[in-house]
Amino acid sequence: MRIFGYFVLAALLVSCNSKKEEPTVSVVKSPDMEIYTPSEMANHMNYMYEYNEALKSRILKGDTIGDYPVDFEILYSAELTDPTDRDDFFELFSNHFIERQKEIFDEESEIPVKDRYNSAINLCISCHNTTCIGPIPRIKKLLIQ
Ligand code: HEC
Repeated sequence: MRIFGYFVLAALLVSCNSKKEEPTVSVVKSPDMEIYTPSEMANHMNYMYEYNEALKSRILKGDTIGDYPVDFEILYSAELTDPTDRDDFFELFSNHFIERQKEIFDEESEIPVKDRYNSAINLCISCHNTTCIGPIPRIKKLLIQ
């Protein structure tokens, strides 16, 4: 338990520090100020968040959900704030996540769409447990209860 605590602390300090639950950081363009530029991956994460938020409301309304968003696969190449985050775990969780996200759009599946959607969101959370715990409370809000 103690080791886990240290790990969590280290994860907090290394990545996603101070960003905890803030969805976006406003960029102030002043020559005197340091400009915070989110990484390509941070932007991609926010895109995936918004996409799934919209998807959740379509599922809840029983609307059609369209096709799998192929651009989710930018996950495999986007530049991270801390490039060392892209380790074996990251690759593993990326693969599982993309697989689950694809399954949401599989019209032949016999698993209810709500459950397939929640499996994908749970993989967002699983990966975040290993790399970046700050946004987890926000991601949990995407789950369909
Ligand atoms: C394979 C691991 C992995 C998966 C899967 C993953 N994330 Fe992330 N997420 C990260 C990492 C690492 C960062 C930090 C990115 C950076 O700062 O470059 C991050 C950052 C974020 C952020 C903060 C972005 C910011 O503005 O700083 C949000 C929000 C987020 N993820 C939501 C999600 C959601 C929603 C999903 C699923 C749809 C998801 N993540 C799937 C690893 C993952």
